[in-house]
Amino acid sequence: MKPIVRMHAIHKNFGGVQALKNVHIDICRGEVVALLGHNGAGKSVLVQILSGVFSQTSGLIEIEGHKTRFASPRDARAAHIETIYQTLALAENLDATANFFLGREIKNRFGFLDNRTMAV
Ligand SMILES: Nc1ncnc2c1ncn2[C@@H]1O[C@H](COP(=O)(O)OP(=O)(O)OP(=O)(O)O)[C@@H](O)[C@H]1O
Ligand SMILES: [Mg+2]
Repeated sequence: MKPIVRMHAIHKNFGGVQALKNVHIDICRGEVVALLGHNGAGKSVLVQILSGVFSQTSGLIEIEGHKTRFASPRDARAAHIETIYQTLALAENLDATANFFLGREIKNRFGFLDNRTMAV
């Protein structure tokens, strides 16, 4: 099966700091993937590259087989990539769905939250 997300040979430098060195990851449809690593290993940087916060220094990202470069989180969102961050932005009193749609909730024609649409 072709991966829906492919990150190939990703490198990221912040000045003299090499945050990512030659990272490869393929994610297929329906897969749930956990990314594990020590503090400072580069997990957040990798996810931020996939979600358009940073550009990779080099390497390739393909979404559903198409070579992609996200200039902003908005671009990534347009490709259906959503991110919930571990700190600050997370509203702990809300569930995962509500956190996804925080500040841009889907409403029905009466102006009420359309929880059913947001959940699917
Ligand atoms: N904006 C930034 N500018 C400079 N260096 C950064 C920046 N963001 C991350 N780094 C560096 O990149 C490396 C990877 O950091 P990252 O935050 O991705 O680690 P992590 O695996 O998410 O760690 P943690 O488990 O603590 O969340 C670290 O050396 C970090 O200091
Ligand atoms: Mg992190």
